Amino acid sequence: VIRSLLLGAGAYLPEKVLTNADLAAQVDTDDAWITARTGIRQRHIAAEGECTSDLATAAARRALEAAGRDARDIDLVVLATATPDYTFPSSATTVQANLGIRRGAAFDIQAVCSGFIYALATADNFLKAGQHKRALVIGAETFSRILDWNDRTTCVLFGDGAGAVVLEAGTGEGTSADRGILTSHLHADGRYRDLLYVDGGPSKTKTVGHLRMTGKEVFRHAVVNLADAVGEALEATGLAPADIDWIVPHQANLRIIEGTAKKLGIDNSRVVITVDHHGNTSAASVPLALTEAWADGRIQPGNLVLLEAMGGGFTWGSCLVRI
Ligand code: ACO
Repeated sequence: VIRSLLLGAGAYLPEKVLTNADLAAQVDTDDAWITARTGIRQRHIAAEGECTSDLATAAARRALEAAGRDARDIDLVVLATATPDYTFPSSATTVQANLGIRRGAAFDIQAVCSGFIYALATADNFLKAGQHKRALVIGAETFSRILDWNDRTTCVLFGDGAGAVVLEAGTGEGTSADRGILTSHLHADGRYRDLLYVDGGPSKTKTVGHLRMTGKEVFRHAVVNLADAVGEALEATGLAPADIDWIVPHQANLRIIEGTAKKLGIDNSRVVITVDHHGNTSAASVPLALTEAWADGRIQPGNLVLLEAMGGGFTWGSCLVRI
C-alpha cells in the first residue's frame, strides 16, 4: 500500500506584530473584548510589498530543511490560499520558480480556511495514485489585504502567515506504526456562502473586495461541522478519541476549538493552540500550528495527529495522519 508520509513541516510569520492594544488605537475595540470572545492576543501582518508567495516560499524552504529533502526532489506543489499574489498565474507557480523547481505540477487550491486540508487530501491522492512522488503542500495567506480595517467585527480576528509540509510516497514499512496520511474527508455546502465571503472579485465586481462575515452563524456551524469531520475520520479508521495524541485544529477562535474538543470528549491538553499569537491565518493556520507543536517536541514520531478545519463556502474537513 502506498502511503503519503509526512516528512517535515516549516512555517513563516511576517516580522510585524499587531497587538490588541495596537488595534484598540485604530478601531472601537479593546483587549478584554477580543481576548474574551476569541482568545486572540496578537497577530502578524505582512510588510508592504511582502506577498503570499513570499511567505509561502519561506515556509516551504523550512519544510524542506526539516524533511531533509532538496527542492529538486519535489514534483508537485499545491498551495492553498484565498489571497493569491495575482488573479493568475497561481501563486504555486511563483513558489515553484522561487525554489528553482522546473518539473512536475504546481497549482493553487481555494477553500479558504479549509484550504490546507483540501490541499493535503489532494496531494495525498496524487501520491497514492502514483502520479507524483514528493509534494510540497503549503497554506499561505495575507488576509490583512482583504480586511475592512474600519470593521471591528472582522479586522480583529485575522493575521498573515504561511506553513508547509513535505509529503513523500512510501510504504510506511519498517516503522513501529503504520505511518502517513491514514484518511481524509472533505465537505462543502455552498448554500452558506453568504455567511462568510469577500465582496469583490475579478468577474463579479472587478475589485478585490473586503471580507464580510455573520460571525454568530459561522460559530454555530463550525462546532457541529468540525466535530462531524473528526467523528468521520475515527469511524473510517476504527479508532477512538482516546487514540488521538494531538488535535491540530484550524485556529479561528479559542471558543470554537474548545467547544469542538469538548463535544468529542478530548481534553484541551491534547489540542494545539496558536490562535492566541497568530490570530486566524485561514489556510495557513493548520500547518503553522502543526509546525510549532512538531518543532517544540510535543508531536513525536509515531503520534496520531488529527488535522481539521472549516471555512467560507462553507467548506470543512479532516485529515488523520501518523507522524
Ligand atoms: N470590539 C468590541 N466590541 C465588538 C467587537 C470588537 N472587536 N466586535 C463586535 N463587537 C460588539 C458588537 O457590536 C456587539 O455589540 P452590540 O451588542 O452592542 O450590538 C457585541 O460586541 C456582541 O457582538 P456579537 O457579534 O454578538 O459577538 P459574538 O459573541 O458572536 O462574538 C465573534 C463575535 C467573535 C466574531 C464570534 O461570533 C465568532 O467567533 N464567530 C466565528 C467567526 C470566525 O471565527 N470566523 C473565522 C472564519 S470561519 C472559520 O474559520 C471557522
